[in-house]
Amino acid sequence: MEQPPTSSGFEAAESYYFTENPPPKNLKSNMVLAREFINRHADSDRRVVLVTSGGTTVPLEEQTVRYIDNFSAGTRGATSAEYFLENGYAVIFLHRQFSLLPYSRHYSHNTRSFLDYMKEENGRVVVEEQHQEEMVRVLGQYNAAKNENKLLILSFVTITEYLWMLREAAMLMRPLGPNAMFYLAAAVSDFFVPKDRMVEHKIQSSEEFAQTHMNGKGEVQSKTPAARTEGKSLIIDLEPVPKFLKQLVDGWAPDGMIVSFKLETDPAILVKKAKHALNKYAHHLVIGNLLLTRKWEVVFVSKMDGEQWIRVPSRRRTRSATGIESLIGKAASQKDSVEEDGPSDPDTLHGEPAIEIESLIIPKIATMHTELIRQTRESKERDGS
Ligand code: PMT
Repeated sequence: MEQPPTSSGFEAAESYYFTENPPPKNLKSNMVLAREFINRHADSDRRVVLVTSGGTTVPLEEQTVRYIDNFSAGTRGATSAEYFLENGYAVIFLHRQFSLLPYSRHYSHNTRSFLDYMKEENGRVVVEEQHQEEMVRVLGQYNAAKNENKLLILSFVTITEYLWMLREAAMLMRPLGPNAMFYLAAAVSDFFVPKDRMVEHKIQSSEEFAQTHMNGKGEVQSKTPAARTEGKSLIIDLEPVPKFLKQLVDGWAPDGMIVSFKLETDPAILVKKAKHALNKYAHHLVIGNLLLTRKWEVVFVSKMDGEQWIRVPSRRRTRSATGIESLIGKAASQKDSVEEDGPSDPDTLHGEPAIEIESLIIPKIATMHTELIRQTRESKERDGS
């Protein structure tokens, strides 16, 4: 049996991971769709972005009853996908199953049921008058993306499904050259239960019913299970997921623009960690965000432009039940001006509609992408290739 990597080599870690953790059953059929989509857009010289979105799960059992998950609803990814489409990109939307989807996100996952947007009129279902205008606009955009074949929706649930899909799709995107972009907004698990330390059946809550640990092949588990009961306690002893960003940059998709996200909760370390990631993986852009201000501010960290904050002006912010506006500006490493013009309440105070921060993020990235494509083409011309 293959041994775990002894060096910290990214390649060895990748090879070990994919040997030990088998692909999802639907990988082949999804990649047939992805190949067809990518080739069509490569032929028309269109830019294609792979947007990852939502959280990955970490199953504790083979027949999964329990798993570890994270907070991400997929708002960043689904919203960004819409603005990429608006900016002329074709989008592969690789998302956590049942997380938010572009366009339908406007009517799902909120406190209202989608049925509240409807009414019955003469035996037919129609949209309530006050939602007509917005729904016609959203539906029009969705239908345009669909009819022009510019949106491919793929899904994952577990960390392993996510990594297999990301790797295969990235390799298929190579023919796009610099027209490819990776926008990694998914909240990816850093720790997991490897296949060879996963039990087949539901972990029993009391030792009285504890079973001999079997793996999925019906064999007695030779390694100590990563999740097990001891006495009355549940012990979970996870292993690190190798960082795949390095492999994406150097191996899977060497010509594409790569945008990663850095999520932190402590304002004191956000910029430091974003800069560290940029230096370590040597890709194009890290977008840093804090959990509690992510809907209103992000920081771009890149070789091209250094540290740049993007903020929604206070009069145009959406309200958020979970965010904390007073933290805005706290993570900036240099003093920069945070525009403050009163509390956010766009509907009543200023009459200007709220804007989503992704409407500021995506055009800026598209401009950076244009510059990168220009540089790649120029250097290829110089090399005569
Ligand atoms: O969905 P929402 O509720 O709107 O929230 C959006 C968001 C906060 C999840 C999003 O904006 C965001 O920050 N996503 C990235 C979260 C994350 O995984 O951060 P990280 O600091 O753990 O990882 C940094 C980068 O390393 C990520 O781009 C990730 O793709 C990459 N990574 C992570 C784990 C791993 N094993 N290998 C990786 O390469």
